[in-house]
Amino acid sequence: MPHLHIQTFKKPQFPCEHDGVRFDLIATNTEHHDEHLIATTVDAKQFFLLVKEGEKGTLLKSDKITRPSANHLVHQALLSYAKVSGCEVTASNVPEHGKSMHLNSDSAIKDIEMFSSDFPRDREVHIEVGFGSGRHLLHQAKANPEILFIGIEIYKPSIEQVLKQINIQEIENLYLLDYDARLFMEFVPSNIVGRIYVHFPVPWDKKPHRRVIGEAFVNESIRVLKKGGRLELRTDSENYFQYAFKTFTSLNKLTLEILKNREIAISSKYEDRWKLMEKNIYDVTMTCDEESPEIDLQGDLSFTPKSADFKKVKALNGKTERFEGGFIHFERLYSIKDDHLMYRLSMGSFDRPEHLYVVIEAQQTSYFPSAPIHSRTNLMAHDHLRKLLYG
Ligand SMILES: C[S@@+](CC[C@H](N)C(=O)[O-])C[C@H]1O[C@@H](n2cnc3c(N)ncnc32)[C@H](O)[C@@H]1O
Repeated sequence: MPHLHIQTFKKPQFPCEHDGVRFDLIATNTEHHDEHLIATTVDAKQFFLLVKEGEKGTLLKSDKITRPSANHLVHQALLSYAKVSGCEVTASNVPEHGKSMHLNSDSAIKDIEMFSSDFPRDREVHIEVGFGSGRHLLHQAKANPEILFIGIEIYKPSIEQVLKQINIQEIENLYLLDYDARLFMEFVPSNIVGRIYVHFPVPWDKKPHRRVIGEAFVNESIRVLKKGGRLELRTDSENYFQYAFKTFTSLNKLTLEILKNREIAISSKYEDRWKLMEKNIYDVTMTCDEESPEIDLQGDLSFTPKSADFKKVKALNGKTERFEGGFIHFERLYSIKDDHLMYRLSMGSFDRPEHLYVVIEAQQTSYFPSAPIHSRTNLMAHDHLRKLLYG
């Protein structure tokens, strides 16, 4: 994670700008006064820089929740902050010069917003969940140039590595997304996907709720797959295989095929390892047998301008509100000015909560940097949040 160590933390006059980077405001944790968030904009991307003051110096890095996928934006922001505030840098892992060549502006890495607002529908889509080293994904994309491949991964080093290969090999039909694949499925239009690959997912034997395969994921897969489209699970874990088989067979109307130790065109890093250990490899292929209706998500995620009762707002700190299908937890309260507060929240379903910030001013409330994705649970949670803030 890119970071700077600085001697003494200094604040410039907010808002201010340096080298194309804008710093709008600073918010301070109301319980830990040594923790601040700085609202930063680089290349039209908004995120927070996180400041942690300590006895031996201050650490400056990007905030986890709002961190952009492209590291060079964080690099630029950190270096600019040090310059504009006059902070003396004592240690750093940030390269002084620029942007890596594989992270150019027309990069294959896409934001979830692009998929939620304007999902590409001009071609058949194939999805790979948790592509890791990307061997299978890159191979498939090169072998099928007429198909749009979407690779979803939550491990940033894998994304960077595959992004580099996409640029080196000039692959144009492959997009990458840094997002939880289970949440992503909600944004995929019905009946447009030919294949979903889930190869060697983490078995999560002790935390089964974190598994990719689950009833909700399989139901969404059936909806997004074309008639005749396939979900391919490949695993070395007999336990995961049994669990997935049970999950698939609990659902209605699908065709299943089970194969053991089948060779496929390309072997992933994990697969090579399991083969060396002479482990069995199981394939469960589900074929979708019917067309599904389009999804229709009603509702919006905005706040109507209203006067805030700051006493009531502050009293929510630390509270968790549960509702049918989900919850909102007011994790941390930040102060920007007397009549300008911000909460860090986790909200949504218990299995897959979202983490986000909401800024409350005297006459208006908004999410930072942007509203959460337009999903079913977020719409529900937003409705509860509005009621909690304004009664
Ligand atoms: C064991 S690795 C397998 C990688 C690759 N498919 C292969 O066969 O080598 C599982 C990958 O799934 C990713 N992953 C786990 N949960 C995920 C999720 N909910 N959404 C997207 N990726 C996920 C992990 O980061 C990891 O890279």
